[in-house]
Amino acid sequence: MMLKNQVALITGGGSGIGRETVLLFAKEGASVVVADVNDSTGQEVVEEVKGQGGQANYVYADVAQANHCEEMINAAEDMYGKLTILFNNAGVMCAGDDDAISTDEKTWDYTMNINLKGVFLGCKYGIPALRRAGGGAIINTASFVALMGAATPQLAYTASKGGVLAMTRELAVLHAKENIRINALCPGPLHTKLLMKFLDTEEKKQRRLVHLPMGRFGRADEIAKAALFLASDLSSYMTGSSLTVDGGLTAAYVTAE
Ligand SMILES: NC(=O)c1ccc[n+]([C@@H]2O[C@H](COP(=O)([O-])OP(=O)(O)OC[C@H]3O[C@@H](n4cnc5c(N)ncnc54)[C@H](O)[C@@H]3O)[C@@H](O)[C@H]2O)c1
Repeated sequence: MMLKNQVALITGGGSGIGRETVLLFAKEGASVVVADVNDSTGQEVVEEVKGQGGQANYVYADVAQANHCEEMINAAEDMYGKLTILFNNAGVMCAGDDDAISTDEKTWDYTMNINLKGVFLGCKYGIPALRRAGGGAIINTASFVALMGAATPQLAYTASKGGVLAMTRELAVLHAKENIRINALCPGPLHTKLLMKFLDTEEKKQRRLVHLPMGRFGRADEIAKAALFLASDLSSYMTGSSLTVDGGLTAAYVTAE
């Protein structure tokens, strides 16, 4: 029970990394608020937690909307009396997101609003709540694409994740003396809906797999374990860092045959 007496809010909690983290955090004793724009998957994971004897609640929140972010934080405090862990994890990857020439402004703005502004808004309303609780941990989901370039471009997505890393560092430095730790998580390519929607042929999958030392995509539950580390006391001396969980991807030049 590594998160006993903790209250966690997880954005994008209805699917992929968010979903696995909701289940793991609840198993570790946290009361969890699931925030998502998909009511059915959000409520489904809440039922699953309750079925396992854990505590969870769902709130509809579009992280790109300031009033939704304010309300989701208020909801956590109203339901459980405080907020001590905030996982800004919701993110999107759009079909029209490509290189600088072909990506249109609409795609750019939509991606930035959710992936980058959404993290800002989570922090804007979440940090005061963590202060009220006497401290806590924030985890922001970035990506390996914030660390390395790809000739399979998704420019808006990549830029948004680079922004998440830079913002995480600055906020961490700013709030370090308030008992608030803020770290970023950089997952490698995962076998979740977000990516598999794009990698819909064997050829597209192989184009990526050849660069992965482990020779496989990651699983959402493997990222949830890293989130648990960053949310818990196990990482008590870590702030302003980014934790890369990528099957060795960013360490590789040439992979084994
Ligand atoms: N899957 C990967 O390969 C990968 C790799 C690196 C980073 N990431 C990042 O991890 C995070 C989670 O990705 P995933 O793979 O679990 O994706 P996913 O698509 O399985 O889940 C994302 C969840 O976010 C929700 N969401 C979308 N827009 C939202 C909004 N405006 N407000 C609130 N919720 C919203 C969706 O409804 C969904 O439940 C994202 O930030 C993504 O960019 C994913």
